[in-house]
Amino acid sequence: MKPAILGGEPAFSKPQAVGFPLVEPDTRSRFHALMDSAFERNWLTNDGPLVRQLEQAVAELHGVEECVSACNATVAQMLALRAFELGGEVIVPSFTFVASVHACAWQGLTPVFCDIRRQDLTIDPAMVERLISPRTSAIVGVHAFGNVCDVDALEEIRRRHRLRLIYDAAHAFGCSSGSRSIGGFGDVEFLSFHATKFFSTFEGGALLTRDRHLAQALRNLRNFGFAGYDNVETLGLNGKMSEAAAAMGLASLPALPARRERLASTQEAYRRHLAGVPGIALRPAGVSGRSNYHYVVVEVDAERYGVTRDHLVEALWRDNVLVRKYFYPGCHRMPYYASKAGPGPAPLPVTDEISERVLCLSSNLEDVEADTARIAALLQVIHERAEEVTRLCTVAAG
Ligand SMILES: Cc1ncc(COP(=O)(O)O)c(C=O)c1O
Repeated sequence: MKPAILGGEPAFSKPQAVGFPLVEPDTRSRFHALMDSAFERNWLTNDGPLVRQLEQAVAELHGVEECVSACNATVAQMLALRAFELGGEVIVPSFTFVASVHACAWQGLTPVFCDIRRQDLTIDPAMVERLISPRTSAIVGVHAFGNVCDVDALEEIRRRHRLRLIYDAAHAFGCSSGSRSIGGFGDVEFLSFHATKFFSTFEGGALLTRDRHLAQALRNLRNFGFAGYDNVETLGLNGKMSEAAAAMGLASLPALPARRERLASTQEAYRRHLAGVPGIALRPAGVSGRSNYHYVVVEVDAERYGVTRDHLVEALWRDNVLVRKYFYPGCHRMPYYASKAGPGPAPLPVTDEISERVLCLSSNLEDVEADTARIAALLQVIHERAEEVTRLCTVAAG
């Protein structure tokens, strides 16, 4: 096999992207039938029957009393932050998708960046504790790649310091900490149903909580602050999910067990095929408990591998293997946040190291066994011909 960067034919004729929508044939037919029902009712949004049905199903799936759907996870997080009328500082990991931080800043809160733990890439409770100041009002934990945060340690900190605790569960649909499902941890957790997620409603999200009063407040905030006809009691926005989005969610639910199994076997196939490639380590999925196996996360040790992570990305893209640097850079290094950092923000050594080494590989492959073998073979040849590959790369060495 000759990698495309060395003049070979691309290993894949079609792009193998991270985060392709997962839509099985049966899902499409179920979606069409549900949309027909919505058209027959002529009820397309505003807390319709499909939205209610989806909320109930997602709540049951996660074993919580309340699920409040939203138009996406970013807005869901904004609703949660607003519901608690937070001010001051929010402690949030830098190693996350920028939305987790933007939602805080958008609410006028100051994000205080925290490091992650090497073993599961989730927020480091010991550092959370060190970052707490008189201005701290909340902690936002992120269940990165479906690894559930150290919920017990964070709960203890929250109780002792009387803080709000919100979990970004955008990656964690159906995941657990031991035998405890996500959904009931902290004050509230929110999911993303974006088209590229394990479970999708095109765009969408939801808040999960055990607190009935909080759920009602979130519903009002989501609907312009209306607490009933002609009665606006709070500030609000339009964060509603449409019936079309809910139809997509309901149509997808029956596909999830098989989808999860397929993704688990994809991880297992990558593990087998990548085992002998020096300097490439597949991070284990489901470190905390049950996983949805959606993210295939690899760490590149440039010294052992012979090619830097960024050069490897460039080489693989030439072969139509569209790997992504998730998450890079850490949010604290993004110009918008770096320029705002006060004097002497805490160093985040694990975030800096990991964000320079991680890669996500596609988990949505047509032929799991053959395609994972082909991607692993590419990685092996790129390693063997490291010097030539590096010479031909055009991006600056990362
Ligand atoms: C960790 C994390 N949080 C939040 C979001 C935002 O989700 P949404 O696109 O539904 O607003 C994403 C989206 O990819 C994410 O990965």
